[in-house]
Amino acid sequence: MRERRVAVIGTGYVGLTTGACLAAVGHRVVCADADHRKVERLGRAEVDILEPGLPELVRDGLDSGRLTFVGDSRAAVGEADVVFLCLPTPMGVGGAADLAAVEAVADEVRSALRRSAVVVNKSTVPVGTTERVAALLGRPDIAVVSNPEFLREGHAVQDFLHPDRVVVGAADQEAGQRVAELYAELDAPVVLTDPASAELTKYAANFFLAMKLSFANNLATLCERFDADIHDVVTGIGHDPRIGRAFLDPGPGWGGSCLPKDTHALLTVCEESGVDFPLLRATIDTNVEHQRRLVERVVAGCSPGNGSLRGVRLALLGLTFKAGTSDLRDSPALAIARLLKERGADLYAYDPALSESPPDLSDLLTITDSPERAADGARACVVLTEWPHFRELDWEAMAGLLEAPVVYDFRNLLDPLRLDRAALSWEGIGRSYAMAG
Ligand code: UDX
Repeated sequence: MRERRVAVIGTGYVGLTTGACLAAVGHRVVCADADHRKVERLGRAEVDILEPGLPELVRDGLDSGRLTFVGDSRAAVGEADVVFLCLPTPMGVGGAADLAAVEAVADEVRSALRRSAVVVNKSTVPVGTTERVAALLGRPDIAVVSNPEFLREGHAVQDFLHPDRVVVGAADQEAGQRVAELYAELDAPVVLTDPASAELTKYAANFFLAMKLSFANNLATLCERFDADIHDVVTGIGHDPRIGRAFLDPGPGWGGSCLPKDTHALLTVCEESGVDFPLLRATIDTNVEHQRRLVERVVAGCSPGNGSLRGVRLALLGLTFKAGTSDLRDSPALAIARLLKERGADLYAYDPALSESPPDLSDLLTITDSPERAADGARACVVLTEWPHFRELDWEAMAGLLEAPVVYDFRNLLDPLRLDRAALSWEGIGRSYAMAG
């Protein structure tokens, strides 16, 4: 693999992972960020992002001299063969990407880019954005290429260094090849295509994952209706390699900073381009309906009558969108909490990743510093994030604190036998206690 000089603009979750990993595979990387305090901290290998392995890669890159951090994008791109744009591209009006951050950087670096440089769009952006960035850049001598990331939070380093595939979308084949070669060490299949196909591949991947999750959650409800066991059903279908077992675990719905944003952005693109995609609308609607259905189960079990939870205190275990992260963005746990609050419940929540209450949650719930404090005086307990240590709680002590001996386990995380020994009734998703025990 030929060592390349790489610039990465933006050191967020995608940019920092990209820069540190490209340095780790042998390239010379300069990362730039407008936040000078952040640049200073990164220069000391102080990484704020909760990503296993990332701090070590940053430290190694600094020590080897392959990775440096600067505050000035122009300085970063000056020597670069390849420039990655890892900038926020939030969904703007009507679903198009808001390219304000990209435009600002394009203006800043336009005259500093080397003639032979290639600019790479790493962020998830609507189809057609690569062309828009090329137009913003206004450098006909410089190719702009799409290279979407497929990183899961909590697994970003693993997913970058062991990708299922590398997707590169380029109108200029030589530029596309040059970007693909950056990943040669990773020995992953490369899909070299046009920009629109690469951009759409990213949306299609996240849509399919969301669809698979909505399928699993809907199937879980059907299992409850027929007293079947979702665990055995998804295991049974998952052995078929055309289906695959992953992403079939029922939960409180899917969330996070990507799947909701990307499915809604794709739906907007479909509506605007006059392409009917009922499966996409159904995937989104199923997620909302599934959360409503779970809340109705809690109401049915805890309401003193008239379908209200007024005066009912509930203990929530887990608020982040999935275990292993501190990210609350579009968390399904918060969606369930809001629906419970609408029904009048008083919510006390514990999440190991949250030491104090985020300001915008203070009207919704009270954060406690232990599961026991959340359970003390609560009518029932609701598990919403699959933190492994919830399995090992002192469930006898929890039973003594709860008014009604009921645990709604909306992640099918807990051991029903363990709860049964503590005289607690386990209420899972798509399976009954008898099956799970
Ligand atoms: C996702 C995609 O997986 C990743 O490829 C893409 O690059 C970015 O978006 P991430 O946002 O980190 O990654 O979340 P993911 O791990 O996919 O989980 C999404 C949601 O689905 C979470 O709320 C999670 O709890 C839920 N989930 C996941 C389930 O409910 N059941 C499962 O079996 C898997």
